[in-house]
Amino acid sequence: MKTLVVLVSGRGSNLQAILDARLPLRVAAVLSNEPEAPALARARSASVPAIALDHRRFAERAAFDRALAAEIDRHAPDLIALAGFMRVLGAELVQRYAGRMVNIHPSLLPSFPGLHTHRRALEAGVRVHGCTVHFVTPALDGGPIIVQAAVPVLPQDDEAGLAARVLAQEHRIYPQALAWLARGEVALEAGHVSYPHANASPALVAPALDG
Ligand code: GRF
Repeated sequence: MKTLVVLVSGRGSNLQAILDARLPLRVAAVLSNEPEAPALARARSASVPAIALDHRRFAERAAFDRALAAEIDRHAPDLIALAGFMRVLGAELVQRYAGRMVNIHPSLLPSFPGLHTHRRALEAGVRVHGCTVHFVTPALDGGPIIVQAAVPVLPQDDEAGLAARVLAQEHRIYPQALAWLARGEVALEAGHVSYPHANASPALVAPALDG
């Protein structure tokens, strides 16, 4: 079975979705730059090695990246998933895992890369928002897209309500993307994502049209 290492920094709800899904993947380890991240406890509860690598103990980013790469390589994973991992990784590390490292981002990229995506979506007045699983490249939140889920933005939405609606979809598309990758049904080829899936959902139109 192929193996996966998950990088986290916080709550770990996406990690939990990955652990709970019956994926054709073994989670070999969970690594966190935040020693107190609740995600580490979730890993331990699932009997997955949970390792903290506190970025504050490294004088510079390159040194942290080297230590992180050494820890990842110790588990020799086929795939690496960033799940709420809040450190920007250097280009060297990203290149090392090209085509094998993926991220979940809480917006419909290329809209709203970076932080505070739900607040920015509300401010922009978009009617549709969502989440994206993409390959990681040196461009922040800019790598080739694997799958996206869209949700409506409702008139009564605040940041928390919208975030929750998006998060529920994150928990669906991230395990699915990892299953596709594990089975070799999706891959990065010459900078483009190949996928043979012909099925498409009906359109999400928000607000709904008359009748
Ligand atoms: C998620 O919204 C993810 O898209 C973003 O950070 C959040 C992490 O949540 N990158 P969790 O730690 O998976 O609960």
